[in-house]
Amino acid sequence: MNELEIKNLTKKFKLSKKQQKTNKTTNPYLTALKNFSLSLKEGEIFGLLGPNGAGKTTALRIISSLIKADEGSVLLNNEDIYKDISGYRKKVGFLTSELKLDGFFTPDYTFTYMSRLYGLDEETIKKNKEKLFERFGIRSFKDVKIADLSTGMKQKVSLAISLCNDPEIIIFDEPTNGLDIVATKDVEEYLLSLKDENKIILISTHIFSIIEKLCDKVAIILNGEKVLEGPLKELTKEKSLSDLFFELYEEEE
Ligand SMILES: Nc1ncnc2c1ncn2[C@@H]1O[C@H](COP(=O)(O)OP(=O)(O)O)[C@@H](O)[C@H]1O
Ligand SMILES: [Mg+2]
Repeated sequence: MNELEIKNLTKKFKLSKKQQKTNKTTNPYLTALKNFSLSLKEGEIFGLLGPNGAGKTTALRIISSLIKADEGSVLLNNEDIYKDISGYRKKVGFLTSELKLDGFFTPDYTFTYMSRLYGLDEETIKKNKEKLFERFGIRSFKDVKIADLSTGMKQKVSLAISLCNDPEIIIFDEPTNGLDIVATKDVEEYLLSLKDENKIILISTHIFSIIEKLCDKVAIILNGEKVLEGPLKELTKEKSLSDLFFELYEEEE
């Protein structure tokens, strides 16, 4: 039974003079995450809900080991992920909302290229590719240059590539950003189907309905701090998620 424990993460960014000006501050450090903890279990979809700038992407980047926290740790089955970081990275699929695919290449080529970076053998790559391209309807445009694809198609390709290593831990940053309603539904259904495969799934979003449709558990993050966490059903027994959120948001202001 896989468990991912996120313990007391703190992350500060050093701001350039220009960034300080834009942020209207003279403080050279911005605290993006403060003492942030979560506990994730397989077979559950965990949703991190927060407005722009709350610290969602920073948290997800640390959890996927793209960047390091200043303080705190991430433990997979009670072991710090940096004890075997390459082993951990093989188990993680991370979808960033800012993934830039190289427009010159095709989905087919890019998928193979990324899979080889994971050290997968050609047989496995072929099998995973067929499955994911079929699942996301990519087959018909797999040989078209990415530059010539629509936003929705590009997002589907990003999604398939983020899953190329058949990850046990799936971390999706705002997975439906930029998708049309049909593609959004497709992604939602896919995430729900992963629950049955006993994956650990963490998504971030600023959209209430995504949490309501998909998540078993939710945490609300404001200004880098977790202000509420629990099973969605219990939290929303008496109040809607949006009412809960705005109460906390107004307290914070
Ligand atoms: N590399 C960086 N340098 C400076 N500030 C950053 C950097 N990355 C994020 N931030 C700041 O940290 C805060 C949290 O950002 P982020 O994690 O992207 O929030 P969210 O994903 O919830 O919108 C914001 O104020 C953002 O401007
Ligand atoms: Mg973000």
